[in-house]
Amino acid sequence: MGLNYYQIKKNVQSARKLVIRATNTAGSGHPGGSFSMAEILGCIFYKYLKYDPKNPTWEDRDRLVLSKGHAAPGLFSNMAIAGYFPESELDTLRKLGSKLQGHPDLKCPGVEFCGGSLGTGLSYSVGIALAGKIDEKTYHVYTIMGDGESDEGQVWEAAMTAAKYKVDNLTAFLDRNFIQQDSYTEKIMPLDENLDGDEPSEMWKDASRWKTGDKWRSFGWNVIEIDGHRIEQIDAAITKANATKGVPTIIISRTIKGKGVEHMEDNPQWHGKASDSDVVPIIYQELDSQFMIAPSIIAGDMTNLENEIKRCVTGRADCIHLDVMDGQFVPNQTFDHAKIKELRPLTIIPFDSHLMINEPVKHIRNYIDAGSDIITVHAEVCDESSFGEIHDLLKQNQIGVGLAINPDTDLPNWSYKFIPTLDQLIVMSVVPGKSGQKYIEKTHEKMRRLQHILIEHKFTGYIEADGGVTLDNIGSIFADGARAFVGGSAIIGQQDVRGAIREFRNHVMRSRRKILLDTANELGGSELVKKWIGLHVVGEKQDQIKKIAQEAKYL
Ligand code: DX5
Ligand code: ZN
Repeated sequence: MGLNYYQIKKNVQSARKLVIRATNTAGSGHPGGSFSMAEILGCIFYKYLKYDPKNPTWEDRDRLVLSKGHAAPGLFSNMAIAGYFPESELDTLRKLGSKLQGHPDLKCPGVEFCGGSLGTGLSYSVGIALAGKIDEKTYHVYTIMGDGESDEGQVWEAAMTAAKYKVDNLTAFLDRNFIQQDSYTEKIMPLDENLDGDEPSEMWKDASRWKTGDKWRSFGWNVIEIDGHRIEQIDAAITKANATKGVPTIIISRTIKGKGVEHMEDNPQWHGKASDSDVVPIIYQELDSQFMIAPSIIAGDMTNLENEIKRCVTGRADCIHLDVMDGQFVPNQTFDHAKIKELRPLTIIPFDSHLMINEPVKHIRNYIDAGSDIITVHAEVCDESSFGEIHDLLKQNQIGVGLAINPDTDLPNWSYKFIPTLDQLIVMSVVPGKSGQKYIEKTHEKMRRLQHILIEHKFTGYIEADGGVTLDNIGSIFADGARAFVGGSAIIGQQDVRGAIREFRNHVMRSRRKILLDTANELGGSELVKKWIGLHVVGEKQDQIKKIAQEAKYL
């Protein structure tokens, strides 16, 4: 389908909501494993997989094999978004007569494999990949396996076979979430090191101990290890895998079971259980509240931007905000597309290019070629026709489309028609031109107002807050509706970028927890508040959330 980073993210979010809806309606099903592979599936479906929902048996289609078939709600949700059937059909999940059963079944057109008899998907994939070679077809096979099913001997027979026959038109993913049906994989049948005395829910945090890749290497596979929730890493890994000839590739993806819903994360209970109806609206709100932290490198050493990029990488930024200033639209000058091109090879973290330049339409091509993942231009220097041109060009090139408005600018009338397909709206909270300025307080009210207008006009992108964002105000800016946060002086201006980003995240999380508690209280008073808190059983979440509820006098 060829969607950009932001569109893939949006579809992943919609798919997660559909998983909740389908399993809740069914009263059973597997959200945990559907969520751990959500980004992997999103990247495959909307960027790489060749398919035609109108012609599911098209001979040249790529094949997607879900070996961990219990995660069927995740597969079906994406199939609905991709157009195989209407989203409403997910309400028939696990019902008698439905084509959407608890495990994928061939009676659902588009499903390639009856997964769920665990451990068999890789063997099947090797077979169809070899068949493709014999038939001189160019299709590719993508297979998603669980770490629990790696207990099965058949997985390793298939691994040997694939290496022997040089099955390079096959890319396998290991959804390494460290949890299987009843408990942690490392307790039941360790894939990594012996963990005597370790707390299994914590061990995955030490990546140096992940030895699963060594097993696959010893079987002759090309092994790539990634964070399975970062779309840019999945994307780069698939590109690399597809370019590797003569050996099969496995992408070992460190994931979190239940990812996206705090109380499900890393909690074995959510392997196979549906959410109750009273908490579903709160979960939807949580899923709609995913956010990104974007450090702005101009707040650092302008003579060594390479180093600033490195600090963003070690700081684990979600994306990197690049403030381009031309000395005309704003008095200052920073850098242009040539610099972005130079910086591009340093990281695969998405580049969020914010163009504070005159006549952006004349320069947009250069910024596309420089390797931006999203490009934002200012409403003050566009009109319907030039922005339309920019919008279409960016979409064609699989790049996110952003529009920015200055503190004194409102959404222009011409912009409304673009709202449904905008990936980002930057709401400037300082007069653009330099970092280190103070947040303009009336932006709070403006953003809240804009958020309503945007929802009315079917906006599905991110509102990005840019200028003067600090630990003191980020929580309330999140509550106003922002979902991406630029941090110049408050992140890059700090010595410990990683610590600053972590604190930014913690503050947003705190605000998010409070908002979810507000919703619980609104919908079901203290009973629902208590129930919501009670769901958070892993780690220290429960106490922290309880404290917020007590402060709000909900308990
Ligand atoms: C302002 C820029 C911002 C700025 C952010 O013109 O668009 O991105 O650098 O820096 P702080 O967070 O310090 O305001
Ligand atoms: Zn900016």
